[in-house]
Amino acid sequence: MIDPYKDYDLTGRVAVLTGGGSGIGACSAELLASAGAAVVLGDVDIAAAEAVAAKIRGEGGKAVAQATNVAIKAEVEALVDRAVAEFGRLDIMGNIAGIMNTDLVVDVTEEILERVIAVNQKGVFFGCQAALRVMIPQGSGSIINVASAAIDYPNSNVSVYAMTKAAVAMLTRELAIEAGPYGIRVNSIAPGSTPTNFNAQGRKDEAGNVDQTKLQVYLDRNTEMSPIGRVGEAIDQAHLIHYLASDASKFATGATFRANGGVGLVW
Ligand SMILES: NC(=O)c1ccc[n+]([C@@H]2O[C@H](COP(=O)([O-])OP(=O)(O)OC[C@H]3O[C@@H](n4cnc5c(N)ncnc54)[C@H](O)[C@@H]3O)[C@@H](O)[C@H]2O)c1
Repeated sequence: MIDPYKDYDLTGRVAVLTGGGSGIGACSAELLASAGAAVVLGDVDIAAAEAVAAKIRGEGGKAVAQATNVAIKAEVEALVDRAVAEFGRLDIMGNIAGIMNTDLVVDVTEEILERVIAVNQKGVFFGCQAALRVMIPQGSGSIINVASAAIDYPNSNVSVYAMTKAAVAMLTRELAIEAGPYGIRVNSIAPGSTPTNFNAQGRKDEAGNVDQTKLQVYLDRNTEMSPIGRVGEAIDQAHLIHYLASDASKFATGATFRANGGVGLVW
């Protein structure tokens, strides 16, 4: 019999996850820690990342958090340095942090354009660079970059966001060629719509509370677009990240993995 869990075991592995304070990053941190990895969470929202790390430690896992703005190269390098200082190596780099923008192209200011590129595109690039610095001499590693279903399906009002995420998917393919000879795999995931803090702004009222009508419109629209009639949950993406982090995916590199409810299949 083949042990179905053996290759998914991350005991002794060390993971850095940016955006680990919320949504897909937080859920991935919990799942990877449950599979045995020590996780290092980098997030601009240090209180949120600390809370996730504390929960993991409280449940017997290994986790630390560090304030990190992925748009600043030195902070991403310091995050990876922390992983090596605390746990001695780096096996998994999850470049998960990202921000949305819903302005029409005609309305996007240079400042907004630079901010979205800095977080979504440069942040992932810096994460890859920092990881390679440790993984190349180590001779192993798995880098997982988070793109978006927006790279496949043009939608209204997400042009800048989609542009940065398409760049993430292409960087992944390029880097897979460069890093492969060192035993490093590089893949991306392209999540379908998942209600998290990331896209909550459009569902809030003027006081900042969730507007139930807007939430229902969002859920109905995204449910209708899926042949299986559901919106995503953070765990759907965390499972893919776990797979890509683990030896179960040891033949996978340079690919974009999609858990998106099948949106876009029909039209
Ligand atoms: N939720 C979705 O529908 C969806 C769909 C496709 C792709 N994604 C992508 O998944 C990733 C995670 O999204 P999520 O839904 O979990 O969002 P989220 O907002 O719940 O979590 C994102 C985390 O990133 C952190 N962050 C933001 N800017 C940062 C920065 N400059 N430096 C460090 N941390 C920063 C936030 O503080 C937050 O904790 C993002 O890259 C997003 O683009 C999300």
